[in-house]
Amino acid sequence: MSAFVPSERIKNMQPYRLGFIILGSVLSLTMIGCSKPASDEAAASATAPTAEANATMSREPFGTLPDGTAVELFTLRNPSGMEVKVTNYGGIITELKVPDRNGNIDDITLGYSSLDGYLESSPYFGAIIGRYGNRIANAQFQLDGKTYKLPANDGPNTLHGGVKGFDKVAWHAEPFDRDGERGIIFTYTSADGEEGFPGTLEVRVTYTLTDNNELIFDYHATTDKPTVVNLTQHAYFNLAGDGSGDVLEHELMINADRYTPVDATLIPTGEMASVEGTPFDFRQPTAIGARINAAHQQIKIAGGYDHNFVLNRSGEGLVLAARVDEPKSGRRMEVYTTEPGMQFYSGNFLDGSITGKNGHVYTKHSGFCLETQHYPDSPNQPSFPSTVLRPGETYSSRTVYAFSTFDR
Ligand code: GLA
Repeated sequence: MSAFVPSERIKNMQPYRLGFIILGSVLSLTMIGCSKPASDEAAASATAPTAEANATMSREPFGTLPDGTAVELFTLRNPSGMEVKVTNYGGIITELKVPDRNGNIDDITLGYSSLDGYLESSPYFGAIIGRYGNRIANAQFQLDGKTYKLPANDGPNTLHGGVKGFDKVAWHAEPFDRDGERGIIFTYTSADGEEGFPGTLEVRVTYTLTDNNELIFDYHATTDKPTVVNLTQHAYFNLAGDGSGDVLEHELMINADRYTPVDATLIPTGEMASVEGTPFDFRQPTAIGARINAAHQQIKIAGGYDHNFVLNRSGEGLVLAARVDEPKSGRRMEVYTTEPGMQFYSGNFLDGSITGKNGHVYTKHSGFCLETQHYPDSPNQPSFPSTVLRPGETYSSRTVYAFSTFDR
């Protein structure tokens, strides 16, 4: 199905193994990768402007949280010119620079240029989402006969982990830089009862930028009490470049025969409906805008797409979830994941009230999100794959965003 295959090493490496290798390498390699003074880097690229000279990473201050915690901004670069800027506040990707078919590099993710923007108000731009990605109905769930009450932050429901989700906390960050890969290991301990969820949750999320223009997210979590977990990444993309208008001409393929229809508050009804003959059939590449105003009840409820797709898969492991082609730039993005679902959100709530990077005003559909995940409201939906995590178990999940270009 795919023109692009994730590099064999990445595909075959177990998330666990990768995690251990990364942890084992961190201390020494951090020194090599990150302690290099910026002036050395500048000198290196001035005297030897080779691709290799730029394949590195750096870190700089990114401001201070209201409680006095200093946060940092990390820059990851690969030899093909891809560059990712990410802060340990919320694990937010603030910039993602990717070449187009002519080698022009643009930032293809929405966001703010400074910490203040993210602190004031952000629709989860670029952030890690947890403990529970997407909605939990009526802000509660039952587990082992106990009812857990959560904060309602989206009408009657809990959205993206509650009032202060993983997008709004300072993560501990350990950069690493080794053969063909560089990245950050983010760790965070979520206290028992935080945002109403039971169990002390030890979370580790690793971002890796490879030489093959893959951005890999590895998620791990353990708990000391039974709980529910559903972690994801909430980057908004515009493959033509941030601020270049809407994404309606992007051609999207989603590898899903079914999706989960929702009620008026965007909670799944429990049905897994066929996409056949509906605006949700993206099995053949189709422009995002082709049916976004269709007279379909599900489209009307969400004001576009804001739905979980049940990914086609036979067994575990990485599957191709989606491919997005942007015709003008020739940029292609493919999403591979070990998750059973993916939320396709077409930026319906962007309404022009946010001015982001470089004065870009974000209006409806000026970005899209492909959030790999377990299905929304799984803790209340017995027929959905379970999101329960128990002591002694390890939550482990991987998603790959792979960037390339195409000619037509
Ligand atoms: C997810 C949700 C949407 C919206 C966005 C952020 O995609 O499903 O309804 O909350 O996040 O605004």
